[in-house]
Amino acid sequence: MCGIVGYIGKEEKKSFLLNGLKELEYRGYDSAGIAVLKECEIQAYKATGKLENLANKTSNFTSEDFGIGIGHTRWATHGKPTEINAHPHWGEYSYVVHNGIIENYREIKENLQAQGIKFLSQTDTEVIIHQFEKYLNEGVEIHEAFTKTVSMLHGAYAILIITKKAPDTIFFAKNAVPLIVGKNDKGEKFLASADSPLIGYATDVVYLEDGEYGWLNKEDINLFKKGEKQSIFYKKLKEDKLCAQKEGYRFFMEKEIYEQSSVASETLMGRVKDSSIALDELEGFDFGQINEIKICACGTSYHAALTSAYLFERLSKIKTNIEIASEFRYKEPLLDTKTLFIVISQSGETADTLEALKMAKNSGMKTLAICNVDNSSIVRLADTTILTRAGIEKGVASTKAFATQILTLWMLSLYIGDKKGSLDKETLKSEVKALAHIPSVLHVKDSQHEKIRRLSKRYLHGHGFFYIGRDIFYPLALEGALKLKEISYLHAEGYPAGEMKHGPIALADSELFTIALMPKNTLYDKTKSNVEELSARDATILAISPYEFELADDFIKTSLQEHPMSEFFEMMLITQLLALEIAVRLGNDVDMPRNLAKSVTVE
Ligand code: M6R
Repeated sequence: MCGIVGYIGKEEKKSFLLNGLKELEYRGYDSAGIAVLKECEIQAYKATGKLENLANKTSNFTSEDFGIGIGHTRWATHGKPTEINAHPHWGEYSYVVHNGIIENYREIKENLQAQGIKFLSQTDTEVIIHQFEKYLNEGVEIHEAFTKTVSMLHGAYAILIITKKAPDTIFFAKNAVPLIVGKNDKGEKFLASADSPLIGYATDVVYLEDGEYGWLNKEDINLFKKGEKQSIFYKKLKEDKLCAQKEGYRFFMEKEIYEQSSVASETLMGRVKDSSIALDELEGFDFGQINEIKICACGTSYHAALTSAYLFERLSKIKTNIEIASEFRYKEPLLDTKTLFIVISQSGETADTLEALKMAKNSGMKTLAICNVDNSSIVRLADTTILTRAGIEKGVASTKAFATQILTLWMLSLYIGDKKGSLDKETLKSEVKALAHIPSVLHVKDSQHEKIRRLSKRYLHGHGFFYIGRDIFYPLALEGALKLKEISYLHAEGYPAGEMKHGPIALADSELFTIALMPKNTLYDKTKSNVEELSARDATILAISPYEFELADDFIKTSLQEHPMSEFFEMMLITQLLALEIAVRLGNDVDMPRNLAKSVTVE
């Protein structure tokens, strides 16, 4: 996820901007840049890779006395992580940094291009600065020009603009991504995506709300929403940096669970249209040539793959095989160029998945990566990539990466179904509607989290956990069990609910904890019978379902969702929170569990 900072004042601008970006490194980035405006001159610097590269480029640059500056770390979503695509982007006399995605950038860009305006980058961001300058060049008053520009933008954004036409002012706007304004009693003003860059500089802050925009100079902040001037309420800034990076959550994993709703919106943005799916990454791809899909992945990404097999076969009507990458490598697989080979990886660096991809490439298969990290080894090797846009994931136990992988694969199954003509328009329309509903399903409800926290104290012992479910809820059971074992170190297994009677039920007694995924829309009665069989053998049952279940020892009620995938995501949240709360009670290091690494680059 990108990070932005801004500064107005007399001190060395470069130091606040670079230090501030350093504090935002935890969000992940692949390029960075700053622009400083002083005495009507703007100096801008950009560099790919680490912030040290930008620091080296700016080593001879100083900017004391009054001036203003903006800075940015970019996590590539539109266009490769190159210097041209790095922010700030500029027009003739103005510079912009932006965090988020401008959903309607294509329309704005085409309109500006038709009027002869040239674009340098592949980003969505560049439209902002050209549109702003277009208004200015037409003679629109500057505040009006900014207001009009912001009102044209659809999507998620935190934006800062500086311009030679107003050399003491930073223009800002915020929607669906964070932006904070800070000040101190030395007359300095600051802007940042999070608290941590502001600590040690600002004393008081305003957390902007969605839809707010305005302008800031050394005297004043003018804040508006829907054309109405807003009152400004400063709060005292807290002072613990690590705590600020976790944005008030106890662990990065917890923060990432809570972020799932907003990152899901980013994953869908610009891809979910009224009644279709747009995946620009696959433009020109001939699905007529493909009669099968094979997917390779590891761990959580493998569970996403298993889930997607149900979607590809049901919605795209295409035969789909899933393989664990480390097994695939040595089985001497028979590979066919009419099979689309997909790899799924959060990091893009997992050695087994990377090697599987190399094998597929060498055999002449068409390859597609579903990945969270642009420019990673897997992305560089695959023919095409769809980025999952989850932002950096710090918790070793993957959460938001999984959610965004599933969303991406669901979109892909609809896209392929549509292209192959195997999905009727009515189904496509209702699936698209269901997809668009997921960000709201992913909001964590305080009452539910609290219930899970209280329940967790009963699940700290026993001789094991069985997570059971059917259909897409079987891979979710696998994923729930993986989450628990990774961070609690308790033995947990995921099982297809219908398979218990073929052996594992022998383990059932009151010390065997069964986490039963009992959705209303998918084989409810069948799953219920399987859970009854376990209950009859005295297993302790924690049922997760929208329907009360009289045999449950514990019960977490879910909502009456209309679509199985909504139930999937709601139950996913519950299993993540349950693992988290059990691990917290056991006193484990949730973000860095023993024996595990975030990215597994060895065999
Ligand atoms: O980066 P990748 O998605 O390729 O990683 C694959 C697995 O190593 C990863 O999902 C692992 O299982 C996580 N720790 C799960 O929480």
